[in-house]
Amino acid sequence: MESSKSNNEEHDKTKQANLQPTLYSYNVLRVATKDFHPHNKLGQGGFGVVYKGILSDGTTVAVKHLTKSQQGVDDFLNEVIVITGVRHKNLVKLKGCCVHGTQRFLVFEYMENSNLAEALWDQQGQQTLLLDWPKRLNICVGVARGLAYLHEDSHPRIIHRDIKATNILLDKNMNAKIADFGLARLFPDDQSHISTQIAGTIGYLAPEYATLGQLTPKADVYSFGILLLEIVSGRKNIDSTLAPNQIYLIKWALFLYESNMLTNLVEETLDIINSENEVRRVINVALLCVQIEPTIRPLMSHVLAMLQGEMDIDVNIIERNLHGTNPNFQSTLDDQNHLPLRENMSINDGNILLMNQVPTSNAEIELTDLQPR
Ligand SMILES: Nc1ncnc2c1ncn2[C@@H]1O[C@H](COP(=O)(O)OP(=O)(O)OP(=O)(O)O)[C@@H](O)[C@H]1O
Ligand SMILES: [Mg+2]
Repeated sequence: MESSKSNNEEHDKTKQANLQPTLYSYNVLRVATKDFHPHNKLGQGGFGVVYKGILSDGTTVAVKHLTKSQQGVDDFLNEVIVITGVRHKNLVKLKGCCVHGTQRFLVFEYMENSNLAEALWDQQGQQTLLLDWPKRLNICVGVARGLAYLHEDSHPRIIHRDIKATNILLDKNMNAKIADFGLARLFPDDQSHISTQIAGTIGYLAPEYATLGQLTPKADVYSFGILLLEIVSGRKNIDSTLAPNQIYLIKWALFLYESNMLTNLVEETLDIINSENEVRRVINVALLCVQIEPTIRPLMSHVLAMLQGEMDIDVNIIERNLHGTNPNFQSTLDDQNHLPLRENMSINDGNILLMNQVPTSNAEIELTDLQPR
């Protein structure tokens, strides 16, 4: 009895130790990334530049140089500890960080198959990796599981704020892992991130967040709904090369729903002959997630259950709104598509800046056990 108790204690200690971030020296990261060589650059987003690196023990990592971070060292390290502690099989693991003068770096586990946007479309809009229906459904369920964890089970609870195809990374088995959760904690004064230069970010934004700055987990649910439509259709949420009634994926999906032609949404090359029910289920869930009224959108745990066929989908909600009992429905869609600027938005170099992002609460966590390497 006594020995099993101490085993458990040992196990807890090990688990705890694994949740501590590693503090990497600048030199270790410099060597790992070959002096941040452009060949090792994986890409660039709103928070900074990401490099591939190989540590001396052979582990491959992704190193994110936070170009705009202005946070003090203690606050930065405290937030890194918080984010490192949020672990789930559908979340990209934060391994540690590096502070070098005013520069800040985050070190993540490396994802072999890049991100979902690249898997669905390469730069010419062509699909690069084979994503058959079972793989797509697995990705939908994986992202739902990760988001349900962030919203409902993690400590602290986290609203992602930036769910989109480039923030869904794929491991070597094409399992989905959500990247960049909790990063808003490292940019408490940030006024611009939601904009970023990445075309399409705006198309994922829930209307109440885009126009009123109201941030709740339901904003992520909306973005997730858009993502589901992209996964099924294999097209981007806004595509101005298409016919006018197809430019906005959400409008096109609603039109097809109303016309009883839902499966026309599915990417042409995708074989869904034996999976039509699953495909309908995913599209219906997506249309629940993108409801204009946030309170009508389901919780992520319910989304997960519906995707897995463990919970009924109330299509009455979709139909009620299609048939105009919500007079704001179409006009809000139009508003979002035309992207009106509200008081606290401004345009800077073609990017929309949000001026009043809601800060996340700061967890009270001691800075302990950071191991310099
Ligand atoms: N852990 C990782 N493993 C492999 N590739 C990664 C990893 N993290 C990021 N990347 C790649 O680095 C590139 C840049 O990522 P980054 O997060 O900076 O940009 P983004 O996701 O397009 O925009 P945002 O800043 O809004 O998240 C992306 O192509 C992404 O796939
Ligand atoms: Mg990202």
